[in-house]
Amino acid sequence: MAEYTKVANVEDLDSSGKTVLEVEDRIVVLVHVDGGFYCLDDVCTHDDGPLSDGELDGCDLICPRHGARFDVCSGKAKSLPATRSTISHEVKVENGEVFVKVSEDI
Ligand code: FES
Repeated sequence: MAEYTKVANVEDLDSSGKTVLEVEDRIVVLVHVDGGFYCLDDVCTHDDGPLSDGELDGCDLICPRHGARFDVCSGKAKSLPATRSTISHEVKVENGEVFVKVSEDI
């Protein structure tokens, strides 16, 4: 059963932006936006584009390859050409530390 893994200190992260991490052998992108932290697989479901290289537009992360949008809160694909969600991982913040729990829906 997956456990939370400490990945960063809040003070070391930009107030908004993306950070690529390796957690339990998965490459994920930690997104900090609107005061919240979210974590997605760093893989676009259209053709494996690196979401961490994409632009943030509010709570949307835009794939740099063909422009599909993903909701950072849920991983849901919001626009073509992606039609499937990317995997979202649980995040919690405690005492200024950020923790990620890798989804078991893999
Ligand atoms: S690889 Fe992401 S939109 Fe095509």
